[in-house]
Amino acid sequence: MVWQVEKLGTDCVPVNPSFASGVIPIFHDDCSACHEASGGWDASSYQTVMTSGNHTPVIVAADVPNSLLMQRMSGNLGAIMPPTGKLSDIEIQTIMNWINMGAQEN
Ligand code: HEC
Repeated sequence: MVWQVEKLGTDCVPVNPSFASGVIPIFHDDCSACHEASGGWDASSYQTVMTSGNHTPVIVAADVPNSLLMQRMSGNLGAIMPPTGKLSDIEIQTIMNWINMGAQEN
């Protein structure tokens, strides 16, 4: 498995994205319709993003390859998330950078 962290450069993807302004808006747009308070992973807040899920941890800080969320979003494990198809490279890279920077509540 190859994670091309540098692929897009830093032109349009923040190196240190904020959870509040960079990451959770993606979850709300693309995941929350299915992932809110109905069992499994809950995308509604930082707390639930980090601690909920049938197979926890869904996110491992600073460890993209071992984060189930990234495995599912890349289609490397099980059905791809979201089921309608892969998010844009920019969205995926933003979430990856946030995890790599420690998956902080920032
Ligand atoms: C159309 C509904 C739908 C959308 C939208 C969706 N998912 Fe899912 N997701 C599911 C279902 C149903 C499951 C449980 C079945 C499975 O694991 O395939 C699941 C499972 C998962 C799991 C495993 C959870 C666990 O508890 O083990 C992760 C992680 C995940 N989704 C991430 C995402 C992310 C990230 C997004 C948005 C980028 C997303 N999903 C969007 C329906 C959806």
